[in-house]
Amino acid sequence: MVQETHLSTEHLVQPLFLVSKENSREPVKALPNTYRLGLQETLKEVEDSLNLGITNFILFPVVPDQYKDKFATYGYDEDNFYLKIAAEVKRRFPETCLISDVAMDPYSTDGHDGLVRDGKIINDETLPILAKMAVAQAAAGFDLLGPSDMMDGRVGYMREALDAAGYMDTGIMAYTAKYASAFYGPFRHALDSAPRGGDKKTYQMDPANQREALIEAALDIEEGADFIMVKPALNYLDVINLLKTNTETPVAAYHVSGECAMLIAAAEKGWLDLDQAVQETLMCLRRAGSDVIITYFTKHYARLMKHGHLPEEHKEPKTHARSKRTSTSMPAFIKNYKI
Ligand code: PBG
Repeated sequence: MVQETHLSTEHLVQPLFLVSKENSREPVKALPNTYRLGLQETLKEVEDSLNLGITNFILFPVVPDQYKDKFATYGYDEDNFYLKIAAEVKRRFPETCLISDVAMDPYSTDGHDGLVRDGKIINDETLPILAKMAVAQAAAGFDLLGPSDMMDGRVGYMREALDAAGYMDTGIMAYTAKYASAFYGPFRHALDSAPRGGDKKTYQMDPANQREALIEAALDIEEGADFIMVKPALNYLDVINLLKTNTETPVAAYHVSGECAMLIAAAEKGWLDLDQAVQETLMCLRRAGSDVIITYFTKHYARLMKHGHLPEEHKEPKTHARSKRTSTSMPAFIKNYKI
């Protein structure tokens, strides 16, 4: 009756890693139960997710080395498999909300989100490249574009390019306060997108800073962002709350790969109950002020909601995947754990 915060599947966004090989479904090593999917497997995955009530997806490309160059030109190439898969998903399932990734790193031989010259990231020369990517993604049918690059001025630059190309209905979910974090490890592994030299500290935020997030938020909102994101999520609950209480723009939290991986790893060791930990974590992200949560546990949570999490004796043995579990058989439950 007095519960202050609510969480449901509609608040969640499911990340999907896409590969060019049509029938591929390869597990991501450092993130159990996450896969790199080809076109056919992506369509299956989206259909399966829709049946669980998941409608929001954020898509990332795993780009083969031969397509990478210094200027990330494959990012807006008309043969780009990522854009083609997105277009096909949207054609088959128009009810989905598809969010893109706008940044150079998946396509760049330098592995950086911006253009590199003499070991430095060149902010302003990166903007036209990001704008070209943005227009190509809008043309493919993405509903929201997700600039994750942290270059200054990119939201306004993209907004102008989108409007000029006739895509005024395509929204922008800006990575507003994206911190230079150790928790992106499994993701970079999944995409093979780690920086080839240096680090991302000249453009991603310093974990020591909170107030700076307000400056970033003011700029992104002024430039036309429809959502402002905080990333990672758990170590930055104060930042989520700060942006929620100081702006009217919807706040998204990115519960990143390393944050999800550490829960799974602890559960695999039998040190905590994953179902409970996932529900508590996501609820706390909502309580802190997240309107939307991007998490690798979206499907896990949707399954829990759909099949219920009643006491064991009330569970339908045939409809519940973990019906064999008893309160003391944690390892068996972990073995049966599938998202
Ligand atoms: C980069 C990008 C990163 C993530 C999303 N987009 C990693 C990085 O900045 O190196 C990380 C997401 C995650 O760890 O789940 N454009």
